[in-house]
Amino acid sequence: MSLYAYFSKQFVPLSEAKIGIMTHAFHYGTAVFEGIRGNWNSKQQQLYLFRLKEHYERMHDGCQILKINLPYTVDELCRITIELVERCDFREDIYIRPMAYKSSEALGVRLHDLDDDFLVFAFPWGPYLDMDKARCCVSSWRRPKETPQAKITGLYVSSALAKTEAFENGFDEAIMLTPDGYVSEGSGENIFLLIDGRLVTPPSYNNILLGITRDTAITLAKNELGIETIESPIERCELYTADECFLTGTAANITSVAEIDRRKIGSGEVGEITRKLQQLYSDLIQGNNPKYLDWCTPVYKKA
Ligand SMILES: Cc1ncc(COP(=O)(O)O)c(C=O)c1O
Repeated sequence: MSLYAYFSKQFVPLSEAKIGIMTHAFHYGTAVFEGIRGNWNSKQQQLYLFRLKEHYERMHDGCQILKINLPYTVDELCRITIELVERCDFREDIYIRPMAYKSSEALGVRLHDLDDDFLVFAFPWGPYLDMDKARCCVSSWRRPKETPQAKITGLYVSSALAKTEAFENGFDEAIMLTPDGYVSEGSGENIFLLIDGRLVTPPSYNNILLGITRDTAITLAKNELGIETIESPIERCELYTADECFLTGTAANITSVAEIDRRKIGSGEVGEITRKLQQLYSDLIQGNNPKYLDWCTPVYKKA
């Protein structure tokens, strides 16, 4: 396995892909990124990229917001990504990081009169929240008031503050509130509660990123378990009294939350519905569920 990047319109070894210290995006957070997972199926000797197209559609929307002129269509971005991953010849779970950014080596806070560029690289990456059950706290840092539906690098400072505050206080992850005190999401994940047999998750207007894993979990709960998801504002104390809680995200997959602010959630073990969704999700992303194969892009041509 050798690591490559697609950088300045060509494939280069990852170690050679460098940006200059005056690059605009580095100074002002003027970049849009994505996180995409490739999941290795050892039985099939195949690597499946999960909901590749949806990730690039979201990136295109983000570029529109940041006035980044992306010279590639969604289909072209998918093709570049597949070629990159194929060149690296991974045989394990990976994470792909595409980024569209203001590439001019020029200072001055703005979006106009700047060049744009696109890069993507991939590397082996196992679970992000590497525990069976996460211990969370409600963060003292709030989600920003303006939360565009895009992964804009500059917006991630509040998530980084929240994550490190949680870590330094002995927790695995932070749950952030909206500016007016409703539950929003984790530092890099959406949140779900099970209350009276129904799933509840914050709505788009509660300063969340509309996660692709969130949508997948809602679909699986409905189609496979017959459980509806209600998108509704959630008060902080509802976190403590929920029967189950889990986080969803490309990096974190579906991670069970066993404790919030030193209060056990449900039995304090991985809940039954959470466990079922985890199993369905893990099967699906590895390309093992024929019903959802459209969401899984195979990288390697069959021998
Ligand atoms: C702030 C935030 N919320 C939610 C998510 C989950 O989104 P997705 O499931 O599309 O990865 C992410 C990860 O991308 C994130 O960074």
